[in-house]
Amino acid sequence: MITTITLNTAIDKTYYLSRFALNKLNRVDKQLDEPGGKGINVSKVLDTYNLPVTTSGFVGGYNGKFITSQLESRGFHHDFVQVNEESRCCLNIIDDENLVQTEIVEAGPTISQNEWEEMKKKVAKLSAVSQCMIFSGSLPKGLPSDAYSHLLRIAKGNGAKTFLDTSGEALSHSLDAIPFFIKPNEDELKNYLGKDQLTEKDVFQVMDAWSQKGISVIVVSRGEKGAFISYNGVKFAAAPPDIKAVNPVGCGDALVAGMAIGIYKQLPIEDQIKFSIAVSAAAAIETRAGSVSVDNVSRFVDMVSVKEII
Ligand SMILES: Nc1ncnc2c1ncn2[C@@H]1O[C@H](COP(=O)(O)OP(=O)(O)OP(=O)(O)O)[C@@H](O)[C@H]1O
Ligand SMILES: [Mg+2]
Repeated sequence: MITTITLNTAIDKTYYLSRFALNKLNRVDKQLDEPGGKGINVSKVLDTYNLPVTTSGFVGGYNGKFITSQLESRGFHHDFVQVNEESRCCLNIIDDENLVQTEIVEAGPTISQNEWEEMKKKVAKLSAVSQCMIFSGSLPKGLPSDAYSHLLRIAKGNGAKTFLDTSGEALSHSLDAIPFFIKPNEDELKNYLGKDQLTEKDVFQVMDAWSQKGISVIVVSRGEKGAFISYNGVKFAAAPPDIKAVNPVGCGDALVAGMAIGIYKQLPIEDQIKFSIAVSAAAAIETRAGSVSVDNVSRFVDMVSVKEII
C-alpha cells in the first residue's frame, strides 16, 4: 500500500474565459472542478499505474464532501480526518486570448488541537499497513510549523518509507525527522538557503549535506531542465525529452509519484530516475494536474538522459 497525505486539500477550480478583465463582469466559458491538493495529485498518478493507494488528509464541509465523493466516483480508496471548517477552493482563471493565468488560493480551514491529534492517529494506523507514506503540500492554519516532523517520526516508527514534498518552514522544520525522500524545486531550495541565485555547486553542497544527515533520496527538480538526484550519496543529473509543455503545475507531484512507483517496485536506480522524469514530462503536456498518459510515459522513458555526476 502507498498512502498519500494532503493536509490542505482543495477543490481546484479552473475557469476558462476568452478574456479576463479587472473591474468588469467576466463570464466563464468553460469550468473544471477537480479534487486537488498535492497529495491527491500524487494519488491520481499512482492510480493510473494501478498501485494500491489510500488517499488521506483533512477534509471539511461541503467542499470536503465534493472532494471525497469525486474520489469515490473514480474508485479511489480514501481515509480522511473530517474537520469542522470548510476545505478550500483554489481558483485558476485562464484567459485564452492573452494566454494569461491568474490564481486565487483560499487559506483553507484552521485545524483544531483535537483534529491534529486525530491526524496523528490516522498516520499511525495507515503507516502500519503502508510501505510508502507520501506527505505533500503546505500546512493548514492551526498546525505547528514542525507538523510534518511529528508525522514523519510516527510513520518511520512503523517502518514505512517517508516522502516529503513541501516548502518554507514546513520543510526546514521537518528535516531533523530525516524523511527517506525529499523533492524541493529550485525556488524552494533558494528559499531554504536564503539565496536569490543558485549555482550547481550550491545545489550539490546542500544535497551532500542532506545525504550525510541520512536522507536517502533527494531530488531537486528544475522544471524543463530536469532534475538533480542524490541517491544514497551518489548524484545524478537527469534531463527530460524536449516537449511542448502546456501545464507545468503538478509536474513535481508526478515526479514524486514516479519515484514512489520505482521505489515501491524496487526498480534499479537509473530506471527509477528515467521513469519518474518521463512521468513528470508526460504530466507537463496534460492540462489537468495529476493526469498522465501511460503511452506518453512509455514513449518518453528512453528519451530521458541520466548521467552520474562525478
Ligand atoms: N517544460 C518541461 N519539459 C519537460 N519536463 C518538464 C517540464 N516542466 C517540468 N518538467 C518535469 O517535471 C519535473 C518537476 O517540475 P518542477 O521542477 O517544475 O516541479 P514543481 O515546481 O515542484 O511542480 P509542482 O509543485 O507544481 O508539482 C521536472 O524535474 C521535469 O522532469
Ligand atoms: Mg512542487
